[in-house]
Amino acid sequence: MAQEDWSEVDAYIVEKLSPPEDPSNQALEAALARNREAGLPAIDVSPAQGKLLHLLARLAGARNILEIGTLGGYSTIWLARALPDDGQIVTLEFSPVHAAVARENIAAAGQAAKLDLRVGPALESLPALEREGAVFDFVFIDADKANNPDYLQWALRLARVGAVVVVDNVVRNGRVLDESSADPDIVGTRKFFDVAGAERRWTATAIQTVGVKGWDGLAIGIVEKA
Ligand code: SAH
Ligand code: DHB
Ligand code: MG
Repeated sequence: MAQEDWSEVDAYIVEKLSPPEDPSNQALEAALARNREAGLPAIDVSPAQGKLLHLLARLAGARNILEIGTLGGYSTIWLARALPDDGQIVTLEFSPVHAAVARENIAAAGQAAKLDLRVGPALESLPALEREGAVFDFVFIDADKANNPDYLQWALRLARVGAVVVVDNVVRNGRVLDESSADPDIVGTRKFFDVAGAERRWTATAIQTVGVKGWDGLAIGIVEKA
């Protein structure tokens, strides 16, 4: 029952505030359709969550965004649209197949000029970004959860003071509480909370979310001086 209610209310919110038939949302819907055709897993952020990311990036005045975990680029499009015309989003994706679909989706959404999509394990792309001197004012972490403790460290290294860092999927139906879990995603998420709580370089909270994607949560923080 709970899931049905969450989904219905989520659909109501989206219908009222960002209806799929709105022309500005058609590229997003088209991206989801292309993802389905290509057989990508339907683990994109939800429409309401995508819009939240978009709003947070605009609130942060982001000009340079880093995303870890592209999939088909659904969240990438929401974030790219938050950027000024000369802004940039670097997005990191392990799978060449996912990356190819994302490239198409992002181009079809008119966001190709802002895109820097890098294929490979994120933990190899991140040091390269540091060598290039990249600095970000918004980071969205949404890849393999086992590496979230490391991704947070990289985000803090690559972000400017005052930058916003958002981490997806930190609740996972409450499984985050399972201290005896052997699931690498849960172990990684719990370690992420330990590291995040001890980390003086960022001030963070986490909010639980319910909706079409069930019960989950986002951690949101701001980067402080070292
Ligand atoms: N942010 C996307 C969803 C990402 S799903 C959206 O909301 O639309 C997670 C993605 O992370 C998958 O495409 C997966 O291939 C990718 N991924 C998993 N492990 C990775 C790694 N080590 N480095 C980079 N990407 C990885
Ligand atoms: C999964 C990954 C995600 O990033 C997400 O938002 C939901 C599910 C997964 O791997 O199952
Ligand atoms: Mg996610």
